[in-house]
Amino acid sequence: MVKLNNGVEMPVFGVGCFALPTIQTADVIDFALRNGYRLIDTAKNYGNEKEVGEGIVRSGVKRSELFVTTKLWIEDFGYDEAMRAFDRSLQALGLDYLDLYLLHWPVPTDFKKTLAAYKALEKLYADKRIRAIGVSNFQPAHLRQLMDNTDVVPVLNQVELHPYFSQQALRQAHDRYGIKTESWSPIGGVFVTLPKDPTRPVRLLEDPVVVGLAQKHRKSAAQIVLRWHTQHGCIVIPKSQHYERLLSNIDIFDFTLGADEMAALDGLDRDLRGGPDPELFDVPAFRAIVERRRAGV
Ligand SMILES: NC(=O)c1ccc[n+]([C@@H]2O[C@H](COP(=O)([O-])OP(=O)(O)OC[C@H]3O[C@@H](n4cnc5c(N)ncnc54)[C@H](OP(=O)(O)O)[C@@H]3O)[C@@H](O)[C@H]2O)c1
Repeated sequence: MVKLNNGVEMPVFGVGCFALPTIQTADVIDFALRNGYRLIDTAKNYGNEKEVGEGIVRSGVKRSELFVTTKLWIEDFGYDEAMRAFDRSLQALGLDYLDLYLLHWPVPTDFKKTLAAYKALEKLYADKRIRAIGVSNFQPAHLRQLMDNTDVVPVLNQVELHPYFSQQALRQAHDRYGIKTESWSPIGGVFVTLPKDPTRPVRLLEDPVVVGLAQKHRKSAAQIVLRWHTQHGCIVIPKSQHYERLLSNIDIFDFTLGADEMAALDGLDRDLRGGPDPELFDVPAFRAIVERRRAGV
């Protein structure tokens, strides 16, 4: 567990729900919760909040033991729009409060709407309908602009982060502001789900440094990378729809990477962003990505 800047405690390890097939989602969530996971990361935009809610009910795990995150999609930015979207998400999840609600992306071309959406989150937080509020994909300048214009410091910023894109400067900015870092695509999944050039695949888990450490510690490549995140103080939310991977991914709390091993993994940074550039993200940019995925290019 990690203590957030508002005193709320949050698990450092969870299950991600992006690209989880809707038909499998309830089973995966049920399985994950029965096997020790307590943090769930979903989003309105993933289209599986309802199935996440079904998995929660099926697992029988008490609501008070869970930490459920969902995200406000950019098309729902604006104060009133955000309020309505929150109600829809809560209803889809079948919950009566959320643990963490995030702005999914900043929209730099219309930051006023981004601010208005965050103000809705502040109101929901004040009304105790959410235990903590935060952001995702914010660059340091977006964080500064947000904090200059609102009252509640986000508890965390969920960003693309893995050894090929280790975001050291952003992590340092988070530390200065008292904001936790949460890593999305922690094991490099974005290179699989959204390859920029399918003819030149990027395979973080096959990197010789990662594989070498996996052999040395008798762990999987994914476990090595996930351990690197947690030793850097990052919260991780790897996604898998395979039960054996869900079990092994979370089994990283029985070994430690030494300082030289952490440095070797730090040395893999290539500033290689797999996902969209937050400076350029808005609704048309998102639609172009969806089209590209559909066309398989
Ligand atoms: N805020 C944002 O904008 C944003 C963007 C992207 C993601 N996210 C969140 O972050 C979560 C994680 O990111 P992600 O799903 O993009 O990528 P990820 O967790 O880094 O990687 C997921 C990929 O790795 C595979 N995998 C999982 N465990 C493995 C293992 N032990 N060995 C080999 N392969 C393994 C999965 O395949 P199988 O499922 O087939 O096992 C899947 O293809 C998402 O699910 C979502 O909740 C947030």
